[in-house]
Amino acid sequence: MALRFLLALSLLHSVWALWPIPATLSTGNTALVLSSNFYFDVAVQNAPADLHNAVQQAQYYLKNNKLGCLVISRGANDSAVLTNAKSLPSLKLTLSSGATVNPIATESVKPLGMRSEEYVLTVPADGSPATLSANSTLGLYRGLTMFGQMWYYYGGKTYTLEAPISITDVPAYLVFSRWMWHNIGLSNFPVADLQRTLDAMSWVKINIFHWHITDNQSFPLEVAQFSQLATNGAYSADETYSESNVQNLVQYAAEVRFIEIDTPGHTAIIGTTYPEYVTCMDASPWSTYANEPLAGQLRFALPEVVNFITALLSSVAKTLPSYYFSTGGDELNTNCYINDTLTQQQLKSANTTLAGALATFTNSMHSALIAEGKTPVVWEEQDLDLIRRCSCCGQLGISHRSRTSNYFYLVRMLSFFSIHPFLIPII
Ligand SMILES: *[C@@H]1O[C@H](CO)[C@@H](O)[C@H](O)[C@H]1NC(C)=O
Ligand SMILES: *[C@@H]1O[C@H](CO)[C@@H](O)[C@H](O)[C@H]1NC(C)=O
Ligand SMILES: *[C@@H]1O[C@H](CO)[C@@H](O)[C@H](O)[C@H]1NC(C)=O
Ligand SMILES: *[C@@H]1O[C@H](CO)[C@@H](O)[C@H](O)[C@H]1NC(C)=O
Ligand SMILES: *[C@@H]1O[C@H](CO)[C@@H](O)[C@H](O)[C@H]1NC(C)=O
Repeated sequence: MALRFLLALSLLHSVWALWPIPATLSTGNTALVLSSNFYFDVAVQNAPADLHNAVQQAQYYLKNNKLGCLVISRGANDSAVLTNAKSLPSLKLTLSSGATVNPIATESVKPLGMRSEEYVLTVPADGSPATLSANSTLGLYRGLTMFGQMWYYYGGKTYTLEAPISITDVPAYLVFSRWMWHNIGLSNFPVADLQRTLDAMSWVKINIFHWHITDNQSFPLEVAQFSQLATNGAYSADETYSESNVQNLVQYAAEVRFIEIDTPGHTAIIGTTYPEYVTCMDASPWSTYANEPLAGQLRFALPEVVNFITALLSSVAKTLPSYYFSTGGDELNTNCYINDTLTQQQLKSANTTLAGALATFTNSMHSALIAEGKTPVVWEEQDLDLIRRCSCCGQLGISHRSRTSNYFYLVRMLSFFSIHPFLIPII
């Protein structure tokens, strides 16, 4: 035990904070400092502006992060070996031959499984230039964030003790591992905070931001065609996201393009604008009618509600380049409809069941999203029998979530349908 502890201590000095751990990594034990004239050599013909921006950002962090080694006295003990160390003049970025030169923003919204995020990064120990190559500008971007994590700073020097370094990296899982969920419907964050979150996500290569933008509690999203929803549903007039906020954020973070408008549960807030579309509003005891307090769900069987939600979702989806769009589908409580006269009348006159009506509702939303070029995404607790039956099945991804705390969900996604074979089922 003691021996193991000592061994762990002796390794501490060389432990890196490379995250996520590269698929393959090899290191040496030679010291190497960044040249004071260190530069990025972008050897990519017609490199897009956002690649240049990413390079500038990488350069900025290299200069300014000044991350010290996590040991007592920081890098003081490394000074001696750094005195005679070789220096690294540059990092050369290239795309593999035949690769198409697209903006990172274009690459990052491709369907999962059709994005190339892999890269090969080598940092020689002998003072010759480092190289980064990839099959896409997105891969180069991933490599840049990894390059930025390799360095310690001490006494005016940015250095590593582990050259030569060689990394070949690719996401371990196509779909599931790099996903972040942000429940804005529950708590409101200023745009600047979201941008900071997005920055941190990009450093650790989280490649999907699932923006759960509405919930029972608030509807902060401004939608021109349905402006009252935010007027009546935001926590306050200052706590909304305008269309330009959304567009700016989408532009800011190429990969953050996945919005969820939860339906038909978690929609009490819509009742503040359209009371006739929501039933069992604030019904008591709430636990009979809702999975969290207080109650209120869409009367999804009514044709006018189907039309309203379909129009709302397509009008939001139209403004976003994202390949995915979530319609929620979680925590529907069917007790809510048992004594709802309007719902029961409608079911009777349409000679259908609640499940049948839910299929119609879901089909209508999803068909509209598909027409906008989206792949609809729902929570895994959406009635699976229903989804298997519905006509747009081939386009559906089912997301799977695990609750890690009250306000933060980790989401994984799977699809058992053949149209998108790259969405491999993992559960
Ligand atoms: C740094 O070097 C000094 C003197 O050689 C040594 O006593 C000390 O343990 C070293 N500290 C670390 C963290 O290696
Ligand atoms: C790029 O694509 C080629 C051919 O598909 C592949 O062999 C290579 O490993 C890929 N990755 C990089 C980083 O070039
Ligand atoms: C859900 O929304 C309703 C309507 O806005 C509100 O009265 C209720 O307090 C909300 N529930 C929670 C838990 O915030
Ligand atoms: C529906 O109404 C009946 C008759 O008033 C009542 O006994 C029952 O508890 C109600 N059920 C729900 C889920 O509201
Ligand atoms: C209602 O639907 C059921 C089951 O689909 C069917 O057997 C029945 O004939 C229908 N009734 C009317 C009046 O259409």
